[in-house]
Amino acid sequence: MTKADIIDGKALAAALRESVRDGVEHLRMSDRLTPGLAVVLVGEDAASQIYVRTKTRQTEEVGMKSFAHHLPEDVREEDLLTLIRGLNGDRRVHGILVQLPLPPHIRTEAVLATVDPDKDVDGFHVINAGRLAVGAAGAMVPCTPLGCMKMVKDRLPDLTGLKALVLGRSNIVGKPMANLLLAENCTVTIAHSKTRDLPSECRQADILVAAVGRAQMVRGDWIKPGATIIDVGINRIPADNGKTRLVGDVNFNEAREVAGAITPVPGGVGPMTVACLLRNTVVAACRQRDIEPPEL
Ligand code: GUN
Repeated sequence: MTKADIIDGKALAAALRESVRDGVEHLRMSDRLTPGLAVVLVGEDAASQIYVRTKTRQTEEVGMKSFAHHLPEDVREEDLLTLIRGLNGDRRVHGILVQLPLPPHIRTEAVLATVDPDKDVDGFHVINAGRLAVGAAGAMVPCTPLGCMKMVKDRLPDLTGLKALVLGRSNIVGKPMANLLLAENCTVTIAHSKTRDLPSECRQADILVAAVGRAQMVRGDWIKPGATIIDVGINRIPADNGKTRLVGDVNFNEAREVAGAITPVPGGVGPMTVACLLRNTVVAACRQRDIEPPEL
């Protein structure tokens, strides 16, 4: 059998960034609007620092304004909330992102609830989660599932009637992903650590989205021949040369022998997530100024 196609997240993300850059240029020229994104980082988590740097750099590269706020690990929750309220009221800021995870003494729920839903480019506010769940207009959709969906639809423009399985039930990926697939008329299963006979559930799926954070958990014989596989996992494991390497939640080499298409790790979901953040910021800026957002 031929090997699965690779879904090139890097290339799709570059194309989306290009469209965002064109959209930003148009807004600047015709509406005197420069979208602005505020990114808030608390503490010194190494991975978060890398993500925030990437987001800030790409924001500037597409011509938007970036506002970076780095607070100490021991910041008081009230001081963080005060910063967010200030950003809510700042007309130069159209999108607000608070990088997760937050230190344990800060209530994540309280922080996410303080972000103005219209500036919530992460789509984590319960208002936006609710809008997505009920199919209401104007939901800001979380960036990772939005990027996954764009990759699925690049390969399968019409998902009507397909069976989709989402492995993982997080608020950031699993639940919004399931809602997006449902809105595209898929028959959706959400599986998780307590699901019985996971391999046979997975084997039914035409579309499998793996977001559990367990290195190479999904094996080749869990996959329906020809299925489309989206691997959200980013796990560091020991490599043969004594160093480490990144792998997904899917055993890539095994899956490639069975699937129809698969996203690589790295170079799949990751780049699309950041590109979708830029996209969401442009859309948020347009809505705040009552401008029809570009098709992105
Ligand atoms: N931490 C891991 N993923 C994300 C994300 O998509 N948004 C934010 N704000 N923090 C994260």
